[in-house]
Amino acid sequence: MDALQTLAPSMARLYGEIRRPIARHAPSPDAIDGRDAKQPLWHNMGLWREVSAPTALDHTDWGTRLQAAQHALLDELAAKAELGPDDDVLDCGCGFGDAAMRLLQTHGVRRVTGVDLAPRLLEVGRARARQRGLQGRLALRLASATDLRFAGEARFDVVLALQSAFHFKPRRRFLSEAFRVLTPGGKLVLADMHRQRQHPAGLRAAARRALARHRCGIHRENLYDAATYRRELRAAGFDDIELTSMSAHVFRPFSKVMLLMALDEQGLEPARDELAAAFETIERCPFDELIWARMWDIDEYSLVFARRPPASAGRVRR
Ligand SMILES: C[S@@+](CC[C@H](N)C(=O)[O-])C[C@H]1O[C@@H](n2cnc3c(N)ncnc32)[C@H](O)[C@@H]1O
Repeated sequence: MDALQTLAPSMARLYGEIRRPIARHAPSPDAIDGRDAKQPLWHNMGLWREVSAPTALDHTDWGTRLQAAQHALLDELAAKAELGPDDDVLDCGCGFGDAAMRLLQTHGVRRVTGVDLAPRLLEVGRARARQRGLQGRLALRLASATDLRFAGEARFDVVLALQSAFHFKPRRRFLSEAFRVLTPGGKLVLADMHRQRQHPAGLRAAARRALARHRCGIHRENLYDAATYRRELRAAGFDDIELTSMSAHVFRPFSKVMLLMALDEQGLEPARDELAAAFETIERCPFDELIWARMWDIDEYSLVFARRPPASAGRVRR
């Protein structure tokens, strides 16, 4: 469990302790009641293709819209995986278990195992699953997506990771592990961030980004383009590889939500024209000025699909 020991403290701190706006209402695991069990605690930006982003005139329900976008993101992955009632699914970087519970309750899969490195998230997730009566079909385990030895070989029909694989150190190791634990013919479906272009930067900007990535557990070696991503998947043994950009439906709409979250945190009620101007800037500014490129060198949000070939035996690359 070397990887777990190296990675757990930072992820536990990043997602479990730091009071981030999305999870600030996360209840204590031993005090969860039925109402808490229904509170969404997703940690992703959502897919804003069918869900409309808040506007200056209509923004007070941003939390409901965000949740709808987060459901839409998971549903997009579920549709790509063509999930069915016999499927045994592994969710890597499962957070508080929202995706796992939706997979069971809305998509009707047979069983979900979630792994994460942040113990508090898992404890809250288990308590919520008990409240919903899902404990028999849902296991949330403390494990790294880069070391799935607990799962043995060829056990899952689908491996998912929802906005998590860019954290895995390295993603390459996760791809090999995912291949190993998938049944032949099994599917890998990810919503993942990476980098399509080199962003011009002087030494200071490069150092600032390196520091910001370090703080947020984003590894430089995971910041490659779609062509390299495809090569990595192929080297791990996968087939039927597809990368589809979802960036247009993620970064700018979620930037508006981030702004509203920040205002809400501060108890500030923006004037309508100020908000309209801020949203206009978000829509029109060059991508390099948005936080992902500026802070972390990230500019692509992809739906990643790959299949373990039906006749494949052991892993291709360790
Ligand atoms: C952005 S959050 C996404 C959580 C969840 N998938 C969702 O959409 O709500 C990323 C999650 O990945 C987890 N994580 C990071 N590195 C990991 C690793 N090596 N193995 C398992 N989980 C990891 C973090 O603790 C965090 O819960």
